[in-house]
Amino acid sequence: MKSLLDKNLEFKGKKVIVRVDLNVPMKDGSITETSRIEKILPTLKLLVEKEAKIIILSHIGRPKGKIVTGMSLEPISKKLSQLLGKEVLFNKKKINENTVTEINKISNGSIIMLENIRFYEGEEKNDKIFSKKISSLGDIYINDAFSCSHRMHSSIEGITKHISSYCGLQFIEEINALKKITSEIRKPVTCIIGGSKISTKIKIISNLIKIFNNIIIVGGMGNAMLKNTGVNIGKSVCDGNYKDLVKEILEKSKTYNCQIYYPLDVVVSKDPNGNGKIKESYEVDNDEMILDIGPKTIASIKSIVDKSNTVLWNGPAGYFENPNFANGTKEILEIVANKRSKDKIYSVAGGGETVAVINKFNKFNSFNFVSTAGGAFLEYLEGKELPGIKALN
Ligand code: 3PG
Ligand code: MG
Repeated sequence: MKSLLDKNLEFKGKKVIVRVDLNVPMKDGSITETSRIEKILPTLKLLVEKEAKIIILSHIGRPKGKIVTGMSLEPISKKLSQLLGKEVLFNKKKINENTVTEINKISNGSIIMLENIRFYEGEEKNDKIFSKKISSLGDIYINDAFSCSHRMHSSIEGITKHISSYCGLQFIEEINALKKITSEIRKPVTCIIGGSKISTKIKIISNLIKIFNNIIIVGGMGNAMLKNTGVNIGKSVCDGNYKDLVKEILEKSKTYNCQIYYPLDVVVSKDPNGNGKIKESYEVDNDEMILDIGPKTIASIKSIVDKSNTVLWNGPAGYFENPNFANGTKEILEIVANKRSKDKIYSVAGGGETVAVINKFNKFNSFNFVSTAGGAFLEYLEGKELPGIKALN
């Protein structure tokens, strides 16, 4: 893969478009966790040092081609500026002919961030014209957003067709670590999948069955398993209908001898900001929400992890932002840390929220490697060639 460390690359005075992942957790307009911002600092510092004109492209959330006020990157540009100790200009305006003029005006070694690239319809469609338009903003393109590289989007894939393209420092680090993991993986392998991006991850699970021995499904993903096997989950977070996919997952798991686990018991409440009550998974009332896994489920996770040599984890087990529902997620971190201190298992975690949770409970020592990528991490493990990687090869 071509990287920004290539000897012959000259950056001085060049306009360098850098795609990064600034999809950080936010609450009431404030950033609650900054790992993903910190991870891009090395690439930016290097480009500043080499006197490039740096143009940052990124996204937050899923605005689906519309301008959504709460999904502006402006507060993130301020945080980046703070962490970098350097001014980061923010360009709120729609990308047009004037954007190039404004970029041309910035001095060498300066940084300008453009507004959420997902405000444009063309981005997620990987639209050819849009890809060309954004490529015309710079001379060189760098992808330092490994965690978005499973997306066939303009700022990840389409753009590389029009401009010389390279990967950034964080991207290199992620790929090297994941390559090592996939080559050194020791069975039995247990994968714990939680979080709420059901539509992305439910399809991935179906493919992971062939390579893993155990798949434990918790959080919003666990809700999807319960709901689509006919269990009432009340008002729990779970969109979409995945009956056929879940059926396929359960049937396929028998063929490949992969054990699938989902919550036996849960912690419910009528209010996510309230207190919880432990219930069997099939006892949830219509006006209740599942907000965490229960003690039986935690005990079963412990016994599975105890018999594993590799543990991979993506996505929290519950609504950990409220301490009343953080127990399941915290226990998973404890279980992996304890097992690791006894038996030298290999453990890897990944995902925006997952990193946030590991940081919050200060548990980086539970893992050999923590990736900023969630969906991209799982798809890489699946053995897929991600669009963003293919584009740079
Ligand atoms: C992530 O948080 O995994 C990346 O930013 C990609 O976001 P997406 O799942 O909305 O494409
Ligand atoms: Mg995410």
